[in-house]
Amino acid sequence: MPQTITAHFPSNIALVKYWGKKGNQLPCNASLSMTLSQAQTEVKLYCTEKKSQTAQIEYLFEGQTNQSFGQRVWRYAQQQPEFAGLLQNFDLHFESKNTFPHSAGIASSASAFAAIAATLLKASGKSESDSDFNQVASRLARLGSGSACRSFYGPFAQWGHLEGVKDSSDEFALPTTNIHDNFKQLRDTILIVEDQPKKISSSVGHGLMKNHPFAPSRFIQANNHCMEMISVLKNGDFEAFISITEREALSLHAMMMTSGDYYLLIKPDTVRIIEQVFQFREATGLPLCFTLDAGPNVHLLYPENIQDKVQPFLEHYLQQYGLKSVIDDYAGVGGEIY
Ligand code: DP6
Repeated sequence: MPQTITAHFPSNIALVKYWGKKGNQLPCNASLSMTLSQAQTEVKLYCTEKKSQTAQIEYLFEGQTNQSFGQRVWRYAQQQPEFAGLLQNFDLHFESKNTFPHSAGIASSASAFAAIAATLLKASGKSESDSDFNQVASRLARLGSGSACRSFYGPFAQWGHLEGVKDSSDEFALPTTNIHDNFKQLRDTILIVEDQPKKISSSVGHGLMKNHPFAPSRFIQANNHCMEMISVLKNGDFEAFISITEREALSLHAMMMTSGDYYLLIKPDTVRIIEQVFQFREATGLPLCFTLDAGPNVHLLYPENIQDKVQPFLEHYLQQYGLKSVIDDYAGVGGEIY
């Protein structure tokens, strides 16, 4: 029966970073992220009767066929036994768009694969009202792009086995529970320093962790940070939150700078902005901190109730850096599918 399914899924920003993978898209360490609200991917999946032996998959991004991403989705869908029945009977046509500018330099594979996995799962007959829908979809999304598995829950989600943490798994993400009021309304103002595609992809970066001299201690550090962050999110300790979040951002980039094939994704303006954040915090004592994903753009994190104090900082200090754009986002609850 031909059907159309629509999903909207947000991106997420890791506070504790996934960097290094093993086996079939399993993480070398646990990670924890804040789910975003505004940065979303919408995917519409149209299933039509199959015209030939092999199912055809067409992927349109913002109205244009994206052949290479379509091939990635085709390979991904073929590899998952859960979608075999669907591909036996239907050709698939995806239409996708992002709510954030394409050139903004924000990683979109998390929101895209969360939405793709969810639509394929629903099209395969699983109802989104099943109590395990999110868990199954999170596992399937992970197989498309690791960080995508965390976009199913908000405001925080964790992924990866942690000794003593019930239900934690390398296979799928879990919502992080018992969030203190301090962290319920965090904002993420994303300063786009560079909007060109980066030269070294995250996949290559993950690969470089294989023979990285610091990998074993990095994986231990990240697991410890995850455990600490889970407690901090419960007890509301902003100082500890800032210290873990910023250390994680710098550790991630330190891994890139010290791998066999070393490279640098941060730019001079990234460093300048970070220094301004340190100065702002010292001068005001307000809980503004930064994180970075695998690129030069700076995510400024702060509670909503200091937004009016952060705004002048943004206007007076940061506009001088000739930012490509600024995206205002905040903690969200996950995706929807219908
Ligand atoms: C730095 O999830 O993009 O954003 O599994 O190869 O698709 P693949 O990698 P990806 O890596 C994300 C890396 C990161 C940290 C994080 O989101 O935890």
